[in-house]
Amino acid sequence: MIDLIETVAEPLVDAFRRPITYLRVSVTDRCNLRCVYCMPEAGLPWIAKPDILTFEEITAIVGAAASIGVRSIRLTGGEPLIRRDLERLVAMIAAVPGIDDIALSTNGLLLEAQAPALAAAGLRRVNVSLDTLHADRFTAIARRPGLDRVLAGIDAAVAHGLTPVKINCVVMRGANDDEIEAFAALTRERAVHIRFIEVMPVVENVEMQRDAWVSSDEVLARMNVLGELRPVPNPHGNGPARTFAYDGAPGTVGVISPLAHDYCETCNRVRLSADGHLKLCLFGDNHIDLRTPLRTGGGEEAIVEILRASMHVKPERHFLDLGQTASAMRAFSEIGG
Ligand code: 5AD
Ligand code: SF4
Repeated sequence: MIDLIETVAEPLVDAFRRPITYLRVSVTDRCNLRCVYCMPEAGLPWIAKPDILTFEEITAIVGAAASIGVRSIRLTGGEPLIRRDLERLVAMIAAVPGIDDIALSTNGLLLEAQAPALAAAGLRRVNVSLDTLHADRFTAIARRPGLDRVLAGIDAAVAHGLTPVKINCVVMRGANDDEIEAFAALTRERAVHIRFIEVMPVVENVEMQRDAWVSSDEVLARMNVLGELRPVPNPHGNGPARTFAYDGAPGTVGVISPLAHDYCETCNRVRLSADGHLKLCLFGDNHIDLRTPLRTGGGEEAIVEILRASMHVKPERHFLDLGQTASAMRAFSEIGG
């Protein structure tokens, strides 16, 4: 009798025994907003167009990752919806064997128009950034107007089943911290999941961050005044949020504290930058070029080998608590759900 030996590739596990099942894919570094905690008003030195991975290249990397255990993909930016025909990439990724979850993090400006095509292509759910419910504040924080379009985008996401819709709110003292209660109250009426994020230091915002930072503990204490919060599982969570709900509420509230490194322990993710570098940690300079091997004829097997080798350099944790700041912008896209 012949034994049937199934050849299943060893899944990707890092040097600290953390299984890596989640890949965040940045499809562009550009953005149609200029949030004060993220980018300077003039923008950034953008990646040159020829250096941006094509959809085919992204799909090849996703295919390699999926062959060794990656199961969920999140598309991020900059602002991913400014990449033309994004739904085509969604469909390509949806067809990769092994990928069973595709999500998107967006600022929501272009979501109303694109939600139907994205949902039809296989996108499962969205996270929308929204820091304020006041139009004038939105314009001050994002340095461009657009609150109405974001709210319409959130409605469209719900209408097209891109759920659970999570809303990422970066809390800043003096700018929007007086809206914590209003955001939290929304979860009692609507099936939205608000996650308050502590503002993180990046090169662009170090001084502002120091003055504006509000701890997750303070956010939780303030929400508790509205009513008792009970811990609940993260709705569809890969994420680092600690999640709670009010009695009978359809939505949830959560806090994400990137400055604590408590969730590094269960880190399950790596990130692919728009120009094809694998970034192994939220902060820190460890990244690995996948674009050159791809463009010089390396196929899926070559990428699998590099992914495996990269596991030796994925750090155990970040050192934000010791004063580390992001040496490169856009590190945050690790966080925002
Ligand atoms: N600190 C915390 N969150 C940030 N984001 C962007 N920059 C920062 C920062 N410095 C958030 C965005 C979005 C997600 C992608 O990351 O608001 O919700
Ligand atoms: Fe754009 Fe998001 Fe940065 Fe705001 S936080 S400028 S929406 S990438």
